[in-house]
Amino acid sequence: LIRHRAELDGLDRTAAPEQSRAGFLRLERNELVPELDQAAFDEIISALTPASFSAYPSLGPLYAELAASLGVSEDQLLIGAGSDWIIRACFETFCSPGDHVLLPVPTYGMYEVYAQINGTVVDGLPHRDDFSLPLDVLLDRLRAGQRTPPVPRVLGLANPNGALGSYVTGSDLEPILRRARESDVLVVLDEAYVDYVGDTWLPRLGEFPNLVLVRTFSKAWGLAGLRVGYAIGGADLIGGLRRVRPNVEINQVGVEAARYLLRRPGLVRDHVQRTLAGKQLLTARLARHGLAVVPGSANFLQVRLGPCREAVLARLAAAQILVKDQRGAGPLDGWTRITVGPAAQVSQVADVVDEVMARD
Ligand SMILES: Cc1ncc(COP(=O)(O)O)c(C=O)c1O
Repeated sequence: LIRHRAELDGLDRTAAPEQSRAGFLRLERNELVPELDQAAFDEIISALTPASFSAYPSLGPLYAELAASLGVSEDQLLIGAGSDWIIRACFETFCSPGDHVLLPVPTYGMYEVYAQINGTVVDGLPHRDDFSLPLDVLLDRLRAGQRTPPVPRVLGLANPNGALGSYVTGSDLEPILRRARESDVLVVLDEAYVDYVGDTWLPRLGEFPNLVLVRTFSKAWGLAGLRVGYAIGGADLIGGLRRVRPNVEINQVGVEAARYLLRRPGLVRDHVQRTLAGKQLLTARLARHGLAVVPGSANFLQVRLGPCREAVLARLAAAQILVKDQRGAGPLDGWTRITVGPAAQVSQVADVVDEVMARD
């Protein structure tokens, strides 16, 4: 019998493939809600030809245009199949079996998966009960020379956090980045939700040769189905990441769609504004019922529906509205994650909550 590597023993990724979500209001995976405008879709498609499918993709134009829009050079960029692949590449490139990886938890789930695939030891750093990050503890864990646990090779920090939506401000994060630099810790700073906060470490990249920013076209840009993400970092770090890149990073449809959106920053700004307005509305409507909400800086909210949870979840399911029940999700057990879209979409959730609350 040929067995998988021992490092993979603890991983269970055998879940059945996801069923079609067509016809559902999809508020469970933090995608763009609603989907990309039909007109934008039609324009992207009209730029495709049969050769877009049959020829191997040409990434040169996307690298050039992305670099120009970010104000970096092309050797500071690596494009990949979603930021998910970029995270994987970071572990594969920079971690050897036995290295320690420090992860504030909960976080975007694939960090632990990729850390484990690469045989690293994950040191989880729990958030406080109020879901804030214990920055003092984090700072301490990065102190050079520390023995137990040892100074990590990598700090994986999603900001806003992919599980909570919480956000660490620039001034709070600065001492962490400085300490990591002193201690030679690579910081994988995941800015998947950066468009919703509008504040990025990109302008400071030159000061931190130990910093890789992870970005995606899946959230505010609306291309989750096409799998386009990228890393930005110093040319040395990116050169390292390039060593593990596949023959071709992404497909030609993704290339064309990303190029289309880069030329239309106004469209992405509209997506963000609609989402922020929807988030404000949903927060206010849930507050009327006194429901606890984690203040979220991304395109989702974690909500504690309390005694009404089962009834609300049942009504949402009946109305074909998908949300993420966090049952069994450690400290988030009992919470419900709701992806936020414009007012029209989030109102459908708020209406259900109103209805159930009025009944009970
Ligand atoms: C923090 C964070 N990073 C990365 C991803 C992965 O995004 P993608 O692979 O679609 O770019 C997600 C998805 O939810 C996320 O929440």
